[in-house]
Amino acid sequence: ISKTEKRLRQPIVVVLGHVDHGKTTLLDKIRGTTVVKKEPGEMTQEVGASFVPSYVIEKLAEPLKKVIPIKLQIPGLLFIDTPGHEYFSNLRRRGGSVADIAILVVDITEGLQKQSIESIQILRERKVPFLIAANKIDRIPGWKANNDLPFLETIEKQRNDVKVYLDNLIYNLVSQLANLGFNAERYDRIKDFTKTVAIVPVSAKTGEGIADLLALLAGLTQRYLETRLRFAEGPAKGVILEVKEDPGLGHTIDVIIYDGVLKRNDTIILGGINGIIITKVRGIFVPKPLQDMKVSKYDLTPIDEAYAAAGVKVSAPNLEEALAGSPIYVIEDESKIEQYKKQIEEE
Ligand code: GTP
Ligand code: MG
Repeated sequence: ISKTEKRLRQPIVVVLGHVDHGKTTLLDKIRGTTVVKKEPGEMTQEVGASFVPSYVIEKLAEPLKKVIPIKLQIPGLLFIDTPGHEYFSNLRRRGGSVADIAILVVDITEGLQKQSIESIQILRERKVPFLIAANKIDRIPGWKANNDLPFLETIEKQRNDVKVYLDNLIYNLVSQLANLGFNAERYDRIKDFTKTVAIVPVSAKTGEGIADLLALLAGLTQRYLETRLRFAEGPAKGVILEVKEDPGLGHTIDVIIYDGVLKRNDTIILGGINGIIITKVRGIFVPKPLQDMKVSKYDLTPIDEAYAAAGVKVSAPNLEEALAGSPIYVIEDESKIEQYKKQIEEE
């Protein structure tokens, strides 16, 4: 067995949820924490996604190792936010093929709302496993914030009536989920993660519970999705997140590659507004390293190839009519064109 056959790629984690429940704030917090804990020199930048390396997760999860023992084989986690409505409906169509696992962000003080339920239905349809980030615990009356502590530590520092209040909110969430046919439970009370949806109480504002969330995501994907995450050296498969016009590059597409390798000069097939587009990759780009917090849109570094999972910008001729949300495949073998066409048209 060669090294690459044993290698696991990073799971793609899609963040879904109702408007204003805190998806973007949560990702910002995770990104901020990662930048702080990152070792200098180690820099992977992504387009349309945020990468958290495994050693950062291991560092953060250190205090939890009795509860979530992890020695990570995955290289990290790749997060995709779902900002705005249009993008969301793209994801609805594409859903499962990109997400290995999802986080449903729920404002714990509001419980499941319309778009939370919509998200759950998409995940169920696409058979995407998910866990729930029960967000905004800092807004519980009497909550004493302990910035960046794991949930299991901060909860021990709360007054008894605050613990009871939180348990009641979780209980409401559990019964809402039961009505939708799901068993759910606070994550540290779960025995069998294949049968129960894990609820992780967090605050995107104070960072409490982020360690638990990352450790659990890493642990669960590695344990239950290993086959799916086995790295394949084959032609790339991906999905188009956005179509843009970039100065100097013309029309480009932001792509999440969930399988295989994308190389310069590869022939690609993708969906367009007026039908299938077949073209040749002219350039692959990632944001310039070391400027994470203020990466300007056009500050790009060209790369020769991109391995799954990754978020990259691709330039190629004839992308004016490329369709956001469409699948994209590398054609290695002309005889496969018809098969890919069908697959793209069916989406
Ligand atoms: P959409 O992208 O519009 O669907 O919203 P979103 O889910 O990305 O929510 P966003 O992160 O923009 O947060 C909405 C509001 O909630 C902002 O004002 C945040 O500051 C606030 N917020 C998010 N998380 C927390 C939290 O944990 N605690 C508190 N107190 N406020 C939060
Ligand atoms: Mg948002």
